[in-house]
Amino acid sequence: MTGGTISEGRGDGPRTGPGPAGTRGSSPFTEKWVRSMYRLLERLSSGGAPNLLGIENGYLNYGYWEPGCTDHDAACVALAERLGEAAGITAGDRVLDVGFGFGEQDFHWLRTREPKEIVGLNITPGQVDAARRRTRELDLDDRLDLRVGSATSLPFEDGSFDRVVALESSAHFNTRQVFFREAFRVLRPGGVLATTDPLPREAPGGKGGLVLRLDEVRRRRIIPDANWYPRSVYAARLAEAGFVDVDVRDVTDRTIAANAVFARAHCARLLRDPRYRSFQPRNTIRYHLRQVEARAAARDYVITSARKPGR
Ligand SMILES: C[S@@+](CC[C@H](N)C(=O)[O-])C[C@H]1O[C@@H](n2cnc3c(N)ncnc32)[C@H](O)[C@@H]1O
Repeated sequence: MTGGTISEGRGDGPRTGPGPAGTRGSSPFTEKWVRSMYRLLERLSSGGAPNLLGIENGYLNYGYWEPGCTDHDAACVALAERLGEAAGITAGDRVLDVGFGFGEQDFHWLRTREPKEIVGLNITPGQVDAARRRTRELDLDDRLDLRVGSATSLPFEDGSFDRVVALESSAHFNTRQVFFREAFRVLRPGGVLATTDPLPREAPGGKGGLVLRLDEVRRRRIIPDANWYPRSVYAARLAEAGFVDVDVRDVTDRTIAANAVFARAHCARLLRDPRYRSFQPRNTIRYHLRQVEARAAARDYVITSARKPGR
């Protein structure tokens, strides 16, 4: 996920320049921070610590919560499905998945949408190794090619993909705009780019509380300020990169907002769990919930699609 406890956010080199109104100094973002956060998450999920997100499968996203859904694993699959739909992944396609996490959505699409091949790129080596192991176990090596690499320098020929997708990952790219241009280049004419992303609200209210201010310090390390713009700007940026038929759909209610409702119930369950009676885990669970609620009040979430002109 993009943000506090998990997901938000070229190179470890130069910082990303002046931030949006209200932020001070150059952006502290580096890809090193992004990798460290995901490494930390791997350790947390294997050390007997409370499973704060309530995700058992390998997804790392807010999920898409249909009415009645109370299961984060199912919500993650549903978000992957919404993105597959937005991209129009269909039998015979060659798909590029950028920021693939543990590859769960690729296993899902290969089963349900039958593309000819998916190539994945991810900057977190531990995730790539784990996803490759799983690919072999599932006997999918001939159709799924997972590599370490960065979204802002795609090592592929011009016009070589039918679809490019980024499931809750492009906020981390330095910058998202460089990625949009790279996606445009590697798509064939008529090909589609589709993303899902958390964004700041169009009109943020007030300064936010202490939790939100601390979360913003963290956000700036893992999401370049240059990417931290609202929904109305997102569509303009896709058009600037050359895309047409741009669709930027607000799904905040079904994603971040519904995820916060789940988090309340999930954290209440964790706090009743006798394994987490001592101060430290209880404090971690309570702080996590405050972060989730603060973000839900300050962020939007979109599913987008855009087409490269031509056929
Ligand atoms: C929130 S996780 C989402 C993972 C997966 N798509 C999912 O929904 O489960 C963001 C992913 O983006 C990857 N990522 C971040 N910056 C990247 C970059 N510049 N290039 C490629 N992948 C990147 C991270 O390693 C992580 O796997």
